[in-house]
Amino acid sequence: MTMVNSTPTRAAIEKITPYSPGKPIEEVARELGLDPASIIKLASNENPLGPSPLALEAVHAHFNDIRLYPDSDGYELRHALAPHLGVAPELIATGRGSDEVMHFLATAYLQEGDEVVMGDPPFSMYEISTLLMGATPVKVPLKDYGHDLEAMLAAVTPRTKLLYIANPHNPTGVMNTREAMDAFMAAVPEHVLVVLDEAYFEYVTRDDYPNALDYLQAGRNVIVLRTFSKIYALAGLRVGYGFTMRPEIIRAISQVREPFNVANLAQWAAIASLQDPEQVLRSRTVNEEGKAFLYAACERLGLPYVPTQTNFMLIDVRQPCRDVFARLLREGVIVRTGDIFGYPTIIRVTIGLPEENARFIATLERVLTAMV
Ligand SMILES: Cc1ncc(COP(=O)(O)O)c(C=O)c1O
Repeated sequence: MTMVNSTPTRAAIEKITPYSPGKPIEEVARELGLDPASIIKLASNENPLGPSPLALEAVHAHFNDIRLYPDSDGYELRHALAPHLGVAPELIATGRGSDEVMHFLATAYLQEGDEVVMGDPPFSMYEISTLLMGATPVKVPLKDYGHDLEAMLAAVTPRTKLLYIANPHNPTGVMNTREAMDAFMAAVPEHVLVVLDEAYFEYVTRDDYPNALDYLQAGRNVIVLRTFSKIYALAGLRVGYGFTMRPEIIRAISQVREPFNVANLAQWAAIASLQDPEQVLRSRTVNEEGKAFLYAACERLGLPYVPTQTNFMLIDVRQPCRDVFARLLREGVIVRTGDIFGYPTIIRVTIGLPEENARFIATLERVLTAMV
């Protein structure tokens, strides 16, 4: 077949490696001929308990609204979030997941020649959204699986526009302490917009976790990102947000935001979720119990792991992670390989329900025994 010269794409996008998501259950079932009901997915840091019943009720109650465009400005959602966050509704921007807010920031602020400082490995959307605009990701190696804030400061130049800190970080689950973040925030130059990504905020249990509101109230050039995809278990509806105390950031976002970006059912479900703090507590408890179980299992199996402040963890399986991943997959257990993050013998596993964690460990043990 002769190749036809198709329309050339922008040079900037040639540098982008497409996002590599956790494998969906249906895909694994199709590829391996497994019963979807027999598969467990511990790959995308979803909440195994599912959403609040109030969110499900809200979706049912508003079902007929899907013929209508959503409220483009997310008025009700921003007003529900405001008291929860301690900022005015006008200082909140909603997105189709917090991923979309990252895209807004990239589109609003970045052009060729600009630099974006991030950890290495970063959460991949930081890099993708930066490259998309033809800007340069400046990747600063993590230290002990956490952000090396001093090295990140040293990487700032006059060209730095954005600086991303995921706290806690994905893919490692490690957080930066209040003391470290306070020192960082005191030193970061004003021309840098710090993006504090707190996607796993509600899972954190350590009491030396920084309070982002302190930085906002101190007038720092910061936007905080959070999401309904994780503890609120609305990943499939795609809703996240950013909040700040700098109106100019919200104005910039509104200049690049598509109208109607967050679906109406997503908005209603998110609002209802905020009225159910019990669901958050339950989810956190299940996560803490699962974490303790997985830590103990790793210690019994002699597998090093990275202690986590999120709903996922890294485990060093001491074997090529792709092989372990493939063998787990054949047994219906989906995890993520660490090689894409630069960790060739590590897997990343989402903390599941007790029975899922037990099945994961039993399967891992079988797989590793077969490999020696
Ligand atoms: C650190 C971090 N930030 C942001 C996101 C994006 O979440 P969403 O776009 O679903 O809100 C994720 C999702 O995995 C994440 O791990």
